[in-house]
Amino acid sequence: MTSPSSFVTREATVPCRVNLIGEWIDFNGGTVLPMALAPSATVQITANGTGLDCIKSTHFAMSQNFAIDAPAQDHWSDYVRGALQYARGRHWIESGQDVSVDSTIPVGAGLSSSAAIIIATLKAASIGLADLDGEALAFAAKDIENTFIGVPCGIMDQMAVALGTPGTVLALDTRDCSYSLLDLPQTWSIVVIHSGVRRALSDGRYRVRRDQCLEAAAALGVDYLCDASLLSIDALEEPLVNRARHATSEAARSRDAIAALRTGDRSRFGRLMNESHDSLRDDMEVSVPDIDQLVCDAVSLGADGARITGAGFGGCIVALVEPERMEDWWSALKLRHPSIERVV
Ligand code: GLA
Repeated sequence: MTSPSSFVTREATVPCRVNLIGEWIDFNGGTVLPMALAPSATVQITANGTGLDCIKSTHFAMSQNFAIDAPAQDHWSDYVRGALQYARGRHWIESGQDVSVDSTIPVGAGLSSSAAIIIATLKAASIGLADLDGEALAFAAKDIENTFIGVPCGIMDQMAVALGTPGTVLALDTRDCSYSLLDLPQTWSIVVIHSGVRRALSDGRYRVRRDQCLEAAAALGVDYLCDASLLSIDALEEPLVNRARHATSEAARSRDAIAALRTGDRSRFGRLMNESHDSLRDDMEVSVPDIDQLVCDAVSLGADGARITGAGFGGCIVALVEPERMEDWWSALKLRHPSIERVV
């Protein structure tokens, strides 16, 4: 039984992320450019001395006792449960914890609320017990997401929320997880807008796309689809040829985008975002008509670039806008799409 002296609350707060470019290539050997955002998840863990665990959240309107060994239930609390099982397996915590979750991250928006909750739980559970750096936390969180939650995601989200600070772009090579942190130029404003279309990665479409990418890479005899040569891709049939075209072109765009970021070339970066959206719509086939229209209007009203962000099928768009134009641009876009919400 836990002693009263250990009834101390351990707390961690972790930001969410938006991916600026480099979409659907974090398991295909590409470099990705996510940036942490201010909305965050906070997890508090307090031993309650009862042997019974309880997850509470006013944000998600829930208070539920649960058995630590319970499997995933296709519910947001799975992220907490998976992280607690991981922590229990490493003897960081015993049975009988009150876990309180608070979050300002929109759910189902493509902003990695799940990675933020998992990492906040791992961080809080390991305080004073295990000295985990950002990368170790990210690998643990990916493992939980892949095995406990059952979503075969790449490493981008976990690295972005574990290592990122708002306003700094993480240029992450997903092959070896080497990275650089790049400042966003002062003359760039990144806007993240929730389309209002919600989606979940656990509905199977993520896995289907990912499997198609792996199948295309195997058919072309490369370890990573981003390495396929453009000439060889044409030998594939649909939809594998489309997935391969997206992965190779997005990897090239991502490399160009790093150069544009380093030189502060906003219009070039914006063009690459637009091309990325076209490729996600036509070749990766992960956009939806409402978001295509939103992206199209965002650009025609004056953004340098805009694209769907995250896994897609709904959620947010990210746009690059000149700071001086921002307020007029946003008012005009909101007028055309009254149900959209600005996240940052
Ligand atoms: C989700 C996954 C990431 C990545 C993106 C698409 O966010 O968790 O690993 O594959 O989709 O870029």
